[in-house]
Amino acid sequence: IFSALCKLCQAKHCPRSYIPEPVGRTRAVETNRTLHETKTRFLLFRETSRGCQIQINRLDRLQECGFNSSLPLVMIIHGWSVNGILENWIWQLVAALKSQLAQPVNVGLVDWITLAQNHYTIAVGNTRLVGKEVAALLRWLEESVQFSRSHVHLIGYSLGAHVSGFAGSSIGGTRKIGRITGLDPAGPLFEGRSPSDRLSPDDANFVDAIHTFTREYMGLSVGIKQPIGHYDFYPNGGSFQPGCHFLELYRHIAQHGFNAITQTIKCSHERSVHLFIDSLLPAGTQSTAYPCRDMDSFSQGLCLSCKKGRCNTLGYHIRQEPQSRSKRLFLVTRAESPFKVYHYSFKIHFINQREKPMETTFTMSLLGTKEKMQKIPITLDKGIASNKTYSFLITLEVDIGELIMIKFKWEGSAVWANVWNTVQTIIPWGTRPHHSGLLLKTIRVKAGETQAYSAFCQQISQHDQFGKIKCSLLFCTELFSHNSLAH
Ligand SMILES: *[C@@H]1O[C@H](CO)[C@@H](O)[C@H](O)[C@H]1NC(C)=O
Ligand SMILES: *[C@@H]1O[C@H](CO)[C@@H](O)[C@H](O)[C@H]1NC(C)=O
Ligand SMILES: *[C@@H]1O[C@H](CO)[C@@H](O)[C@H](O)[C@H]1NC(C)=O
Repeated sequence: IFSALCKLCQAKHCPRSYIPEPVGRTRAVETNRTLHETKTRFLLFRETSRGCQIQINRLDRLQECGFNSSLPLVMIIHGWSVNGILENWIWQLVAALKSQLAQPVNVGLVDWITLAQNHYTIAVGNTRLVGKEVAALLRWLEESVQFSRSHVHLIGYSLGAHVSGFAGSSIGGTRKIGRITGLDPAGPLFEGRSPSDRLSPDDANFVDAIHTFTREYMGLSVGIKQPIGHYDFYPNGGSFQPGCHFLELYRHIAQHGFNAITQTIKCSHERSVHLFIDSLLPAGTQSTAYPCRDMDSFSQGLCLSCKKGRCNTLGYHIRQEPQSRSKRLFLVTRAESPFKVYHYSFKIHFINQREKPMETTFTMSLLGTKEKMQKIPITLDKGIASNKTYSFLITLEVDIGELIMIKFKWEGSAVWANVWNTVQTIIPWGTRPHHSGLLLKTIRVKAGETQAYSAFCQQISQHDQFGKIKCSLLFCTELFSHNSLAH
């Protein structure tokens, strides 16, 4: 995909436009008394709109651009470029960093667009050089204004993630850069390489990464799949993102031509940036992610436990705890901002005394202390057989508070119409079950965000005016001594 894009682009002599003030690009950078030319520009943002260029060995520029050495420095590093234009997400991220943080920071940009706008393999080759230039800038800040590298946070998108890694590994000395965040770090030519040839946990005191587009296409994936930080987040499994329609690519090309390819590729890739921007919004909008083996297990609701601080917060406000081994964290998100959802895992113990497995599609309504959610469709992957516990994950867009009641409903099922009599006799008020149909023996619910655990047991069954079966359940606190919620 990348090389196809490149060739198309070169053939078209892509236009180059540029938003910040045009200042000479080529400057001599002196580090260690060695002169070398750099095409990388370093910008600082006083206000959100325009960048102000700083240069190594130019203390006056640093002052003019409003650098405050008592505040941390967050540097944004963009990725590979098709058209030589700095993408819109950069200004969105700058604005969010400038406006949303309670603790203000210096916000900068590493503009290496002339080196990034190349055939992909050439741009990859340039990442190491740009990383060294970033390192030179940080060393100079240390020497000139005693600004510690540990107060630096590099946020690199795509190839920019690896630029950050090279900055961290080439800075020299015993101390490391404070933090590096990789936003869907680029995969091609980096996947499977040794840690010194890509972003790795060694490159900063703390390294986190958000993987959003790791679906393979002809043996390559745009975003790197392997964990490369202390914490690696895989929203929605990391391979592809909701609201991005890869399969519609060909239709889009027919409609919109070449532009459709970049838009389609960018959708999932760039989602990592928008998840990060979302994490800067006021408290309560941050998403929790959970350790899990893979997305399949996560979707089965098997991974909502945050014991021993195993979970973490996606994005800027992550709890910074370096790990000896990369931790892979999973979460579900919405298709647009605000991306946060509330995760619930359900474990339902069915006892099916019938000979045939029970139908697996039903709806569940949840009543909580704050909100109720009606008729959430559930489909279990296997027929409900006898005496078995099924588990699944449900995500809600609102916080319903503490769960008070669950209602199940099997609708429009001929099977159920036939067994109505049976069911009626197995869940009556006050009498002993007949044990000849389906029993919902227990339901255990875990809320990921609050870590609250509830257990339910059957209390009443009834049918509505259409003769459809409804079964309501209430807490059965007496049955579960470990249930912390008293109702
Ligand atoms: C200074 O440059 C020389 C020659 O390039 C190199 O060997 C040396 O390691 C550099 N020193 C530092 C502190 O970067
Ligand atoms: C630098 O930041 C500190 C801490 O927020 C603040 O007290 C100080 O006034 C700032 N300095 C300048 C020159 O803006
Ligand atoms: C369900 O299985 C458990 C253990 O496998 C067993 O102890 C219990 O009696 C079974 N219940 C029914 C109703 O078959």
